[in-house]
Amino acid sequence: MQKVLVTGGAGYIGSHTSLVLLEKGYEVVILDNLCNSSEESIRRVEKLTGKKITFYNVDLMDKEATLEVLNKEPNIDSVIHFAALKAVGESVQKPLIYYNNNISGTINLLECMQETGVNNIVFSSSATVYGDAKEIPVPETAPLGATNPYGQTKLMMETILTDCAKANEKMNVTLLRYFNPVGAHESGEIGEDPEYPNNLLPFVQQVAAGIRPKVFIFGDDYDTPDGTGVRDYIHVMDLAEAHEAAIAKMNGVKVYNVGTGTGYSVKEMIESFRQISGSEISAEITARREGDVAMLTPKAELIKDELGCEAKRGLTEMITDAWHWQSQNPKGFRE
Ligand SMILES: NC(=O)c1ccc[n+]([C@@H]2O[C@H](COP(=O)([O-])OP(=O)(O)OC[C@H]3O[C@@H](n4cnc5c(N)ncnc54)[C@H](O)[C@@H]3O)[C@@H](O)[C@H]2O)c1
Repeated sequence: MQKVLVTGGAGYIGSHTSLVLLEKGYEVVILDNLCNSSEESIRRVEKLTGKKITFYNVDLMDKEATLEVLNKEPNIDSVIHFAALKAVGESVQKPLIYYNNNISGTINLLECMQETGVNNIVFSSSATVYGDAKEIPVPETAPLGATNPYGQTKLMMETILTDCAKANEKMNVTLLRYFNPVGAHESGEIGEDPEYPNNLLPFVQQVAAGIRPKVFIFGDDYDTPDGTGVRDYIHVMDLAEAHEAAIAKMNGVKVYNVGTGTGYSVKEMIESFRQISGSEISAEITARREGDVAMLTPKAELIKDELGCEAKRGLTEMITDAWHWQSQNPKGFRE
């Protein structure tokens, strides 16, 4: 049985990935400081799978405590590194906190891996590393750039990981660049739990549930069919399965987009949510947000060709499962 250390495993994507790993027969160890999550998500993953998770409430900024986890858990085959702060707006207000947590946390983790001989790591990167991409759909080979501190941390972490692999031929690094993860496990037991949502769908979910009065559409004068921004969305369970596919087939440094290749506009997302949830969703058009681009969708074939991994769930499942989770857990895990 392969053993996987999941940093940030109590969070949104980490909890779904842990569930997929357990179902596929992996042993899962989670390291998380719960700064943006709850231990309840881990308990629910255990309940859904009928399997145990070893959990360490540890901050990656604490190198000694991180090293202790790796020493206590010998024979870790791979690490999936989700642990990071991820709110773009907050990163603009508090850049040092983002650089410190995301970069120092990653360096500490890599040093601990090096000291204990763990050589495989899958990293949560993001479409944000393409900045204002000129070629749409964007291929993995496109020029990189960041428009905010959060994006900068992702770019820097990609560079650090790639340099470490260059210096150590035993090391395997897979960078997964996610395009807007949405939805939830079909049970409705785990899902995204933001107190202050940064992304469109969690915001729409909370408006549909009556938690927020309306959703803001940032600009309807983009050069897109209905004037609102177009993005690619991926069901969080498809994304979780992509992580399992990545650790099953590590080989040197690899970079993959993880999306569906099909873009939807902000207006289309809101309208689909209205239809599926049957809820009133008030929306107000406001000015464009700085740093937003008109359209960002990926070329999504490479991961299919090399890892045999393809998104199976479409927009209806994304929204149905997101709504199932939201309506069943109006306060997320905060009850
Ligand atoms: N959700 C998205 O839209 C999206 C898109 C692209 C990339 N990503 C990346 O995927 C990863 C997971 O995202 P998510 O949506 O599940 O976020 P999340 O906030 O739900 O999960 C991140 C987890 O990391 C933990 N964490 C943060 N700093 C830590 C530290 N110093 N030590 C230990 N634990 C720490 C948090 O408590 C949380 O449980 C992040 O790296 C994020 O940047 C997310």
